[in-house]
Order: sequence, then structure tokens, then C-alpha cells
Amino acid sequence: MKYRIALMPGDGIGKDVLDAAQIVLDKLALDAEYLSADIGWEFWRTEGDALPQRTIEILKRCDCSLFGAVTSKPKEEAAAELHPDLQNKGLVYRSPIVRLRQMFDLYVNLRPCKAYPGSPLNYREGIDLVVFRENTEDLYAGVEFHPVPAAVRSALEANSPGMKAFQQVDSSDMAISCRIITRQGSQRIVRRSFEYAQQNGYKSVTLVEKPNVVRETSGLITREARKIAAEFPAIPLWEANVDAMMMWLIKNPLDYGVMVTSNMFGDILSDLAAQLVGGLGFASSGNIGDRFAVFEPTHGSAPKYAGQYKVNPIATFLASRLMLDWLGEKEKAAALEAAIAGVIAAGKVRTYDMGGPSSTLDMARAVAERL
Ligand code: NAI
Ligand code: MG
Repeated sequence: MKYRIALMPGDGIGKDVLDAAQIVLDKLALDAEYLSADIGWEFWRTEGDALPQRTIEILKRCDCSLFGAVTSKPKEEAAAELHPDLQNKGLVYRSPIVRLRQMFDLYVNLRPCKAYPGSPLNYREGIDLVVFRENTEDLYAGVEFHPVPAAVRSALEANSPGMKAFQQVDSSDMAISCRIITRQGSQRIVRRSFEYAQQNGYKSVTLVEKPNVVRETSGLITREARKIAAEFPAIPLWEANVDAMMMWLIKNPLDYGVMVTSNMFGDILSDLAAQLVGGLGFASSGNIGDRFAVFEPTHGSAPKYAGQYKVNPIATFLASRLMLDWLGEKEKAAALEAAIAGVIAAGKVRTYDMGGPSSTLDMARAVAERL
């Protein structure tokens, strides 16, 4: 077999959509061996680890992975749902997908948002946006404090005039999440976005940040982005503030193509972009590093629909298409995208979110038939 691909359905509708993806991938006759791997809430509850070591070992032996979705819950609830034998052992729940991104250094979060003609959910026809979200740094680095330890507090007081405003606040009444941005992290995400624009014929790259207010972090990204942009003279770098971008994307979504941003802003920006082209049933993403990648629909486990084969698998098909593209299977990737677009345009098979009665597997069979 040419490829080894890990399938991680996870929780809830993760299983429904990966079953659907398997039908489509089988039809494409990709020369691949599929290995299923455990991830998610069930393994947190029963083993105290949502990303068991055996899964990590499987992933290390694979070229890439297709992931469904996992359930996550806040700290206290997570601790309470642990199997009685595992309670009070100091186990702390951490999102397995965030861990995967950090463990395999999957620094690109690629989120294409294209309005396929004929979808009743398109905000406007012709939208074709691609978000490059940095995937390992920023507020998601996990450097957080509550209460704030004395050493952290005194270091901040000694170095940041901004801390003066908090002089009267007790450390136990304060929480701090660090926005960590590095030069290298900024360079590589911006470079990947320009390469993508060049390879896929986009006419510009828009940097979406807020350097006028978060001066140091957004400032660093902006300076590095300008340097990288100079390596791609044919593609202009546009700069937009993240707040203004939310309005412009609603007003003039056709003006934009590739957008690049840091982790938190990218999380927000990509959800807005996804809603312009149909929302969670259409939103796919790739978590991509230099050697490994995990592809996923961006939606969660939607527990109320779990096992009902009701939700839209198009997001997962589009994630599969990103996977094929990343593997270098350009023809199969293009064929899959054309089949998805064909089914959307024909308008006969529509899941509930598109206003129709079709099931998850009806959609899979319709796409497979076109292939
Ligand atoms: P969700 O994305 O699971 O679902 C929200 C609602 O969106 C659903 O109830 C459904 O109405 C709709 N929806 C989602 N996927 C759809 C699809 N493929 N087709 C049609 N409609 C769809 O978000 P929610 O309810 O906030 O979270 C549920 C669980 O998923 C939580 O435990 C959350 O932490 C987790 N989650 C996991 C993610 C991941 O695995 N990457 C991402 C987001 C949430
Ligand atoms: Mg999100």
C-alpha cells in the first residue's frame, strides 16, 4: 500500500461522518491502509486519557490522519465524569486535538471556505476564502495562571507599566493567559500562506491582526509578514485589523482570498468565513506540519445527533479532499471536489441543515455515485 492513514472517529457524530467518508474514499480506490485509532471522551472517562499512548504510536506509523470530532467539557465536569478508580489522582483533561497540534508541531491550520454554486446556505455566490491560522502559539499555548503566582506577578510588575492599573487587585482575583508569539512561528505560517496563494492562483494575502493595540505580539507578526511578502513580489500583502475585517468580510466577501493570522484571531475569523459558505456542515480544516497532518471537519461531536446519521458529511468530504491534496493525489482531490460540487449543484440530496430530508449516508452515496 502506498499510504497509511489513521482514522480517528472520536465521539458523537464523529463516527457518523467518518463512516460516510469511508464510503467516498473506498470509491476513490486510494491505495491506502486505514488504521483506526482511539481518541475522545470515552477514553478520558475510562482510562484518564483522551489521547492514549497507543493512538500516538499508531499516528507515528501513519502518513496522516482523518479525525471526526471529540466531546470536551470544562475542568470540573471532566474530573467528575472520570471512572471512580481514576478520581483524585490529579488527572487533568486537555483537549486531545490541541495536544496533537503541539505534539506533532502541526503549525498550519488551513481552512478553505468556498461557496459551491447552488448551495442554499451560501451567503453570496462566488466567495472563495482560505484562512491560514497559526496553530501552536498565542493564547492556545497553554501558559495560564489563576491565581497568579507571586513570582509571575512580581516579574510582570517589574517589567510592564500596564500592570500599574492592577495594583489593588489580589492575585487570587486575577487570571492571566499569555499570548505567546515567536518570530519563527510567524515566519512559517506567513510563508505557507504565500506559497499557497502562489500555487493556487490567489491574487493577494491579507494579514489579519491588531498591531495598533496588541503592539508587541501583533507587531512582531506584522514585521515578519512584511519581510516574507518581499519574497513574493507578485502577490501583494494587505493588512487589516481583525475587528474591521469582521465587517469587511460581511460587506465585501468577494474582495478577499488568502488570509493569514495568529491562533485566536484565526479561530474567530475562520468561523465567520465558514458561516458565509454554509456553516458547520461545510467547514473543513487541515492541521498541517512539515511531516504529518490531521484533517478534520471543524464541527464538534453534536451529541444530540450522535448515531442518527443525520448531519452533513460534506465538511468531512472536504477535509478528505484536503488530505488527498496534501498527499499529492491531486487528481483524486480534484475529482472528489468536483463530485461534491456536482451533488450540491444538482440539489437533489440535501441534509437537514440544507433544508432537505437526506441522511449522512445518502449524501455519501450521492458523492460516491458521481465519482
Ligand atoms: P457542535 O459543532 O458539535 O454542534 C453544534 C450544532 O451545530 C449541532 O447541534 C448541529 O445543530 C450543528 N452541526 C454540527 N455539525 C454539523 C454537521 N456536520 N451538519 C449539520 N449540522 C451540524 O458544537 P457544540 O454543540 O458546541 O459542541 C458539542 C461538543 O463538541 C462539545 O463537547 C465541544 O467541546 C465539542 N467540540 C469539538 C470540536 C472538535 O472536535 N474539533 C470542535 C467544536 C466543539
Ligand atoms: Mg473553533
